[in-house]
This record gives sequence, structure tokens and C-alpha cells, in this order.
Amino acid sequence: MSHQIAVIPGDGIGQEVTPAAVEVLETLDIDFEFVEGEAGDYVAEETGEPLPEATADLARDADATLFGAAGEHAADIILPLREIVGSYANVRPAKAYPGLNAVKPETDIVFIRENTQGVYSKIESEIADGVSTLTRVITRDASRKIAEYGFAYAEEHGYENVTIAHKANVMRETDGMFLEAAEDVAAERGADYDTALMDALAMKLVMNPEDYGVIITPNLAGDVLSDLAAGLVGGLGLLPSANIGDDNALFEPVHGSAPDIAGQGIANPSAMILSAAMLLDHLGYDEQSTRVTEAVEAVLADGPHTPDLGGDASTEAFTAAVIDQL
Ligand code: NAI
Ligand code: MG
Repeated sequence: MSHQIAVIPGDGIGQEVTPAAVEVLETLDIDFEFVEGEAGDYVAEETGEPLPEATADLARDADATLFGAAGEHAADIILPLREIVGSYANVRPAKAYPGLNAVKPETDIVFIRENTQGVYSKIESEIADGVSTLTRVITRDASRKIAEYGFAYAEEHGYENVTIAHKANVMRETDGMFLEAAEDVAAERGADYDTALMDALAMKLVMNPEDYGVIITPNLAGDVLSDLAAGLVGGLGLLPSANIGDDNALFEPVHGSAPDIAGQGIANPSAMILSAAMLLDHLGYDEQSTRVTEAVEAVLADGPHTPDLGGDASTEAFTAAVIDQL
């Protein structure tokens, strides 16, 4: 069965790392049909529209989308794309690699962040002069769904520790519901887990990240804590992410368009290639996903390295080394 993959390189180094990831996918024996769409600052300049309808349609119709990076219009592109794929789970691995000067080399954590609710409800207004309010929305269904995804992810990927992050001692109704729903799911699955107050968790992550595996979180906490963990492993060029929907999903590196190095052919394509590995995993190509991940890890261990990691290899040379490993 052929899978249609929408490919949206976007701006800056998105134009350099996305073809690298596609090249890696093409070396695997999988029946993928790649369809490329345009989006970005460069498109907005020409047409006034950062995300043309035709590109949105490509993402809507595809089995999965690979997105590179956007520049100044990032929010106008990524937020609609995440909505198009119906993303309820934002999956953010933060894994340190040996020898690359990570602040905490033992870190191997995957954040499973609820992606639709919480303080990002958009129910926000200035109710009186100088007074603004925001409605924090949590539903039992959405909380159960993210917990189901998180516990299943931990099981499938061999993570023994699952932590449910919350602040139910203060936000009794909303996070109370989130926590209860997640604990119900754990009980139904017979799964072990810990719970953690999100503020204390921030401290413990900095001190002892090796104690954590999969962390299931409400929306804002996941946004903040996953960036914190990104700092522990160092290097924006290494961090992939996935936005998972029911029938569709979007895979993108955490980094942006990196205008400071764009056009020089020296961007680190690891985050993008690891995002492609998450795409493979999501579509059921577990074996190929593992092969791609291990190939990137081998090159990260032995080089050649791109300048962000202290080497002088080009994006192309790094990618060629990954393909050699495959
Ligand atoms: P950035 O992630 O583009 O770059 C931050 C720093 O990390 C830069 O020094 C850059 O050279 C380096 N870097 C990032 N990715 C790298 C890679 N793959 N290889 C080597 N070095 C890498 O974030 P910044 O500078 O804050 O934003 C630049 C533009 O990107 C802005 O217009 C911003 O709006 C946009 N942006 C887009 C995002 C997205 O598309 N998801 C996310 C973050 C920012
Ligand atoms: Mg963020």
C-alpha cells in the first residue's frame, strides 16, 4: 500500500534539511509518494499568503506531513497545519547523545503533551479596562486520550517510567480531572506510573533527568518542560517532534529557519531526519524507523559532524554518512 507524504520545506534551513530527510526515506524500500508544497515567508512575500490553500490541502489529504521550518510567519503556518492534522498529541523526545556535550548526558525523555486544551483554549478577553481573563479548558475525553497515547507509547518504545505531570493541588477542577482521567487509564491498563507536580518536576528534571522516561502533561506544562529538557540535551539541531492526529500527523524538527546559517549548506539535518524516523514509526514501519534512528546515532557518535557540533561537515556530507550507515 502506497503512503502519500506531504513535504513542506518552508524557509531558511528548512530548504536544506527537508531534502536530506526525504533522501534518507527514499533509500528505504517503502512505497512512499512524496508531494511537495510551498509555505513560508518567501511565499507570503509573493502572494500575501504564508500557507497557500493548495499546500493546506496537500497536508489534509496526505497520510503524513514532513515540515521543515518557517521564519517570521511560523505561527501562521504551523498552528493551522497542526489543526489540519487534528493533532491531539505533541510528542517531543529529548535524548542526549554520547560525546556531544549535553548538560545531562543521561537524559532520555519523551514528552507526550496534550495539544488542544488547557490555557491554549483561546477563550480570552479583556473583560474590563485593565483586566483580562482566560478560560482553562480540560475535558475528561481529551485527558483520557492523551494518557492512552502516552502509556501505549511507553509500552511500545520500552520506557519503564511514566510520569503524569499536573498541578491538581491548586487547579483542583481542571488538573484534578486531568490527573484522575490519566490515573483511570493507568489502572485500566494495569500500568505503573508516578505523578509529579509540574513545578517541582521542573527542578527534578534539571537535577535528575535520568529518573524520567515518558512524561504525560497538560498543554502549557508540556510546552515549557519539553523546552527545558531540550536545554539539558543541548543542540536545537538534534530535536525532532511529532504532532499526532487520528488520521493524519505532522513531523517537524523543533528548530526554526536559522537565518544566521541558512543558504550555507551547513545545517545539521539530524532533527529533521529523526522527525522522519518518527514518521516511519507512526506509519508502522518500526524496523525502518529504528534503522534510521540508529544510523543518525552512529554518525553523531563517529562523525562527520556539522559546525553546530564542532565539526566542519556539510548537510550533504552528514546525510551521505547516514545513508552509508543504512
Ligand atoms: P532557530 O531555531 O531558527 O535558531 C536558533 C539557533 O540555533 C541559531 O543560531 C541557529 O543557527 C541554530 N540552529 C537551529 N537549528 C539548527 C540546525 N538544524 N543546525 C545547526 N544550527 C541550528 O530559532 P530563532 O533564531 O529563534 O528563529 C529564527 C526564525 O525561525 C524566526 O523567524 C522564528 O520565527 C522561526 N522559528 C520557526 C520555528 C518553526 O518553524 N517550528 C520554531 C522556532 C522559530
Ligand atoms: Mg514551545
